[in-house]
Amino acid sequence: ADHYRIVLLPGDGIGPEVCAEAVRVLKACTEAGGPAFAFTEHNAGGVAIDRDGDPMPDDTLAECAGADAVLLGAVGGPKWDELTGPMRPESGLLKLRKALGAFANLRPVSIPACLADHSPLKRDRIAGVDLLTVRELTGGIYFGQPVGREGEGDDERAWNTMLYSADEIRRVARVAFEWARKRRGVVTSVDKANVLEVSRLWRDTVRALHEAEYADVELNHLYVDNAAMQIVLRPAQFDVILTGNLFGDILSDTSATLGGSLGLLPSASLGGGTGLFEPVHGSAPDIAGEGKANPLAMILSAAMMLDDLGEANAADAVRRSADRVLEAGYRTADLRTPESKSASTSELGRMIAEEVKDRIGS
Ligand code: NAD
Ligand code: IPM
Ligand code: MN
Repeated sequence: ADHYRIVLLPGDGIGPEVCAEAVRVLKACTEAGGPAFAFTEHNAGGVAIDRDGDPMPDDTLAECAGADAVLLGAVGGPKWDELTGPMRPESGLLKLRKALGAFANLRPVSIPACLADHSPLKRDRIAGVDLLTVRELTGGIYFGQPVGREGEGDDERAWNTMLYSADEIRRVARVAFEWARKRRGVVTSVDKANVLEVSRLWRDTVRALHEAEYADVELNHLYVDNAAMQIVLRPAQFDVILTGNLFGDILSDTSATLGGSLGLLPSASLGGGTGLFEPVHGSAPDIAGEGKANPLAMILSAAMMLDDLGEANAADAVRRSADRVLEAGYRTADLRTPESKSASTSELGRMIAEEVKDRIGS
């Protein structure tokens, strides 16, 4: 095809603000002679509940499955927080991930040199940080049955089920080992095998796959409580972190502290079908509508999309352009220092788009 079909799901809160900047940057790629895109926009999350009474309508799911890629801003917010079960905005996102078969969520962290002094960690602690969390995304306690809530007063109770099959563990472990081979050759598998039966299956399965097919990769195991501490204490030791759905959610926000803002972390949710590209952060209701959101996580998610589409040149151009604008000292409020130059969400997006135009094909 002469263009890629991209479904946009801007969603709620800052979602639409950051999504608009990713689109601006992608359009700049095209203008500069890079790949071309046809964008179609759909409601997802809270806005879709308001419009259609469903956070992820079937026709939206079908559009996503038929596209070359999906870019999602963020879903959820206080307006929809009293809803339960499948009516929640977040349930809509889970349904989309499941429908796309996006079982592997890649969440990379590297810290641009010019942001080193912004990290809450000392410079020497973050030197050399370059880690990739491979988070299982369509199983575990997010999807396990049974789930429920019943009773009243003192008798009220609720339950979720953490469940993994060996197949689910193997396929995501494979993704982690393959990435390790392309990187520094080390996988750290994170679980709670000292307590949870499901984690013991996780550890046994990862170990067996390692022995059978990936003995060239170094494999370590950590308990999740220790892993959370190690990420802050000695983050440069990690290459690929392999973990389940819930632990991966928590550890990826933990790793966002290294660069000093959640607004820096992109992600790709892959599995075989259409890829879903979404920042690690949420809808940030506390800053929505103020032009304060950092669009980098969303723009860098678009760069991961370009990589996945086989457009490595354009992906590199986007990443180098983002670095360039940061190096020039421009920052959104989350990264501001007395020396930095302040930029709004759209100002930062525009600057990156301008840089991209100079860079593609160069
Ligand atoms: P959040 O990620 O939205 O915000 C956490 C903190 O980080 C806030 O202080 C916020 O201002 C800040 N932040 C987040 N992204 C930022 C950005 N791009 N630039 C600057 N600052 C940024 O998490 P939360 O407040 O716990 O959740 C808010 C809502 O978002 C909830 O409804 C939650 O379910 C939802 N959520 C959605 C997704 C998603 O759609 N993928 C991810 C996480 C949370
Ligand atoms: C994330 C989010 C989601 C998750 C929520 C909104 C369902 O926190 O993408 O990290 O927990 O997967
Ligand atoms: Mn999260």
